[in-house]
Amino acid sequence: MPSPFFFGADVFYVTTPIYYVNDEPHIGHAYTTVAADVLARYGRLLGKDVFLLTGTDEHGQKVAQAASNLNLSPQQQADTLVVRFQQLWAQLNISHNDFIRTTEARHKQVVQTVLTRLYERGEIYEAMYEGWYCLSDERFWTEKELTQGNCPDCGKRVEPLSEKNYFFRMGKYREALLDYITQHTDFIQPEHRRNEVLGFLQRPLGDLCISRPQSRLSWGVPLPFDNDYVTYVWLDALVNYISVPGYTVDDVRFERHWPAIHLVGKDILTTHAVYWPTILMALKLPLPKTIFAHGWWTLDGAKMSKSRGNVVHPNKIINAVGVDAFRYFLLREVPFGQDGNFSHDALTMRYNGDLANDLGNLVSRTISLIGQLRGGVIPKPYGVIDVSEREIVAIANTLCDNIRDDLSTFRFDRALAHIFKLVGRTNGYIEHTAPWALAKNSSQSERLDTVLFHMAEAIRCIAFYLRPFMPGTAEEIERQLGLPPSYSKAVVNDRPFWGGRLVGARVVKSGPLFPRLEKPAPPATMESSCPVPQGPMMASSPVDKPIVTIDDFKKLDLRVGLIVAAEKITGSKKLLKLSVDIGCERRQIVAGIGARYAPETLVGKQIILVANLEPVTIMGVLSQGMLLAAGGTEVLGVATFQEDMPAGTTIQ
Ligand code: MSP
Repeated sequence: MPSPFFFGADVFYVTTPIYYVNDEPHIGHAYTTVAADVLARYGRLLGKDVFLLTGTDEHGQKVAQAASNLNLSPQQQADTLVVRFQQLWAQLNISHNDFIRTTEARHKQVVQTVLTRLYERGEIYEAMYEGWYCLSDERFWTEKELTQGNCPDCGKRVEPLSEKNYFFRMGKYREALLDYITQHTDFIQPEHRRNEVLGFLQRPLGDLCISRPQSRLSWGVPLPFDNDYVTYVWLDALVNYISVPGYTVDDVRFERHWPAIHLVGKDILTTHAVYWPTILMALKLPLPKTIFAHGWWTLDGAKMSKSRGNVVHPNKIINAVGVDAFRYFLLREVPFGQDGNFSHDALTMRYNGDLANDLGNLVSRTISLIGQLRGGVIPKPYGVIDVSEREIVAIANTLCDNIRDDLSTFRFDRALAHIFKLVGRTNGYIEHTAPWALAKNSSQSERLDTVLFHMAEAIRCIAFYLRPFMPGTAEEIERQLGLPPSYSKAVVNDRPFWGGRLVGARVVKSGPLFPRLEKPAPPATMESSCPVPQGPMMASSPVDKPIVTIDDFKKLDLRVGLIVAAEKITGSKKLLKLSVDIGCERRQIVAGIGARYAPETLVGKQIILVANLEPVTIMGVLSQGMLLAAGGTEVLGVATFQEDMPAGTTIQ
């Protein structure tokens, strides 16, 4: 396993790609930016001097083309779109230390200095270029490199081109780069991407065309040594990583921060892992600490693209499930280096399962029980700590090392899984110790204090570790625990120290952290014309259904049923045939719970059966009643009992 080397240093400089302002931000942009934010926030917890940089890539053909399509100047286009990115980062709680726009003077000046240095050192030369040009990728290709006459990268049409240009002597660095990558196993991650780059470098490496004639494209930084040309957008863009920390402008600041950790998508690996390091070698600068290439999101299995109209817009998701649930989903659902599929069902499952059910319920029952049983004041633990407490304390104490390992290897999903293990075990601890039962016996008062204290302390630890991932949720849990707002700001450590600091705090009872989603989260791809509600989507209100009288309700014959057999109904994914014992007889019912439960897990389960429902035949199978379950189209759980009940007992 790679060493957690970058958390060992005092300074921690992390970057996102800078995003083209040719279109609205989408889920891919949010993905890298949230991941970088988590690393930055975690670095700050460790007391590091963190510098998180993001921004926008505003020059080049793509932006000029998008502007011309809208009859805008490229600068107007950039000025309009940059706000969308800045608003989204504010909404997503991104804690960047700077935001660079490549049209800013502070950046353009460094691009020109870099070009001058390279030119004066003979690293840039002028030559006639004859070949093919891909407009979409803004890249030149030789005849040999084309795939069936098209761009080998994006597959789009290429155009023949013959013109004078300037070239960077990239090819001469091929061996040096190969050696560097071979010797530095952490340099390109994950490993399969590193192997890809090593494979790419086995072939001859050409020089890089770094100019575009003004006659063809004027939207760029002019070359300092030839005014008829502008800089190739990728050279311009990559330089942002050194222009912002002060290369050639503020040596002390620059040397403090550089080199960086770059997070990028897999499609821009070559530009970052080949072009950029060779430019840095020519400038005699250290190479980035790590370039991590993450995977791509698809939507319901299909590649997202504007033309297909299936691009996932982050603000739609945020409006439906809230900022932190979106941050959680992005990093929990898919390992960072792999491709992942976005679906509304998957989002709803994560939300309802991990957040509403596991975390939300844990917090709300802890706060409620302390409210009900101890007047809202967190009690002092007493006496003997038994094995069940020891287990959650042990998990909490190992979390620090687990998370450090996971985050230094970019395994955000695993770090979250480790935190949610503590959530799960604490829920189990509550079931096992049953504080509501302890409260009935006055001789158990000290034991009850101990249990309530451990519940509160566990959620304090959970909030602590969730901070980098879900900063708003962490703060809200701490507020509900009665901790002062200064508490989270004061801690600089990645270990929350299990101990007595909560004793005497007064809890604050509040609404649910994650109100359950009744219906799947709405599609995040459509533009909606009606205003979207802020905050998490609430369960449907009672006015959705007519009021019934108590007499109407009493007409229902509700019984305790015991499932004695269960099997799938052929041809259906959801329907199960259940045999249910209701004391005096056995009923056969058809239940749509097959997506939630495997049949064998249901045998022996007690359910609530509507016993006087008119029988119906579903998919050719007779159903003599209906069981009660939570959820809408998606079943979240069947209603059952804490204690064993005799089958057939009436429920009213
Ligand atoms: N401007 C360049 C980057 C220059 S960095 C010096 C650029 N911009 S971009 O706006 O087109 O893309 C930015 C990032 O979004 C890339 O890292 C890309 O991988 C990522 N994504 C675009 N679509 C994506 C998905 N569907 N899924 C995940 N990330 C994706 O390239």
